[in-house]
Amino acid sequence: MQKIIAANWKMYKTRQEARETAAAVAAALSGQPSPHEVIVFAPFTAIADVAAAFAGSQALTGAQDVWPAVEGAFTGEISPRMLQDAGAAWVLTGHSERRHVLDESDELVGRKTAFALEQGLKAMLCIGETLEEREAGRLEAVLQRQLETGLPVGDGPLEGRFAVAYEPVWAIGTGKVAGPGEVLEAHAAVRRLLCGRLGDSGHRIPILYGGSVKPANAGTLIGLDNVDGLLIGGASLDAQSFVQIIRA
Ligand code: PGA
Repeated sequence: MQKIIAANWKMYKTRQEARETAAAVAAALSGQPSPHEVIVFAPFTAIADVAAAFAGSQALTGAQDVWPAVEGAFTGEISPRMLQDAGAAWVLTGHSERRHVLDESDELVGRKTAFALEQGLKAMLCIGETLEEREAGRLEAVLQRQLETGLPVGDGPLEGRFAVAYEPVWAIGTGKVAGPGEVLEAHAAVRRLLCGRLGDSGHRIPILYGGSVKPANAGTLIGLDNVDGLLIGGASLDAQSFVQIIRA
């Protein structure tokens, strides 16, 4: 399975800044193509700029959220078609900042994921436990709940258009990266849950790790069993550091 190296730019970068970073990433990849799929999840306002900077390069553009409707009276929201029109091929759903800062429910995340896929976007569903949940021994139960409500069923095969990002909430933006043992345990659990739900094709759904990934730890993380990619926040904002992770 091709690994995925993805950047989550969160609420950073003006259009100009996004263009410059994306152009630097595209230039690095044109000199030395990556064996991995490269995606940048850009802020809405910068999607078209990033997609333009990536035209002719192997990198793809994604959005960080979507609303599950074709169009309508949903002030402040954005539809799959608008994202595709701007140049997005992928969308993140259920990022922990949306779940925990913006109170998104598992049920809403599930609707967003299913609708995005139905409308032809590729979806990366983010799941992960809080420190409290992990310490209470609830890791697998939390992952199971988030996957079962978030995982779309009945809309055709998911291979090639769906990925899961495991991001322990306590490791996001904290500088605290999960240790290899913790990553192995969680990724094995996600794999079991995916196969339980999807059968054999669960083996072919990429599971990315996210949470304080840096150039210095990317090589170790990407080499772990069931780690099919990395989702990078802070360290993806700088083109050079993101490219170092792609090459790790
Ligand atoms: P971080 O963010 O790499 O800054 O920890 C990861 C994420 O939120 O996807």
